[in-house]
Amino acid sequence: MKITVINGTEYKGVTYRLKEMFLEPLRDKAEITEFYLPRDCPAFCAGCKVCFGKDQKFCKDAQYVQPIAKALLEADLLVFTSPAYVFHATGAMKAMLDHFGYRWMPHRPAKEMFGKRAVIITQALGAGEGSAAKDMRDSLSWWGISYIKTYRYKLMGDIKWENLPEKKRSSIAKSLTAAAKKFASIDYRKPAHTSLITKAKFYAVRILQKNLGKRNPEYTDYKYWKANGWLDKARPWKQN
Ligand SMILES: Cc1cc2nc3c(=O)[nH]c(=O)nc-3n(C[C@H](O)[C@H](O)[C@H](O)COP(=O)(O)O)c2cc1C
Repeated sequence: MKITVINGTEYKGVTYRLKEMFLEPLRDKAEITEFYLPRDCPAFCAGCKVCFGKDQKFCKDAQYVQPIAKALLEADLLVFTSPAYVFHATGAMKAMLDHFGYRWMPHRPAKEMFGKRAVIITQALGAGEGSAAKDMRDSLSWWGISYIKTYRYKLMGDIKWENLPEKKRSSIAKSLTAAAKKFASIDYRKPAHTSLITKAKFYAVRILQKNLGKRNPEYTDYKYWKANGWLDKARPWKQN
């Protein structure tokens, strides 16, 4: 199996440890590709919209975005991590996710995403780990992923792992090891189930695309949906 990890921070602190704890039981059965932000995508979306209007390959940051896009498509399991920074995912994570706006369902979702599984790991000193997780979940779910498990922690003590009480550290470790074992036992040859919510989003966008196509048959997203057969009988969750 292949795992792609997007780390919302380069700092090797608590978030890094939590991610390592999750990956540990999976290491001997998975090929793991990791990206650290901002290092691996040190750029902001300029708002030019060339990805929406023409093609993502024309993005000024394609050199960073394309390798991440490729690794996301190739992975069976996606892992996204971030500490809460002022109640949200890190700015570096948000900057990276902005580059994938073109992959949201109202634009050009990748059909591979509909069968993938994803894990989100966040932590905060006192509060904000939920809203930080939501920042990532919003993108993953609008990319078409239904199977998203979130592991959120409140440190409630110290921002240094070493200074946390042993009881806290071992309860977090236990929870992440159990999660990893669950993910290790999945048969990744079978795509994940597509939820009714994902299907409802798809059908709502399908109506939108049909209307857009009536107004302008040259519209980039409409042509993509048409070429995939999604305006006819094909569905992204029915892969062969
Ligand atoms: C810029 C910044 C903003 C933060 N904002 C919050 C916050 O809103 N709520 C919170 O509970 N902790 C906050 N923290 C603490 C982090 O969520 C995290 O617990 C801490 O950075 C330790 O994780 P790390 O070692 O992975 O960086 C913040 C930390 C930083 C550096």
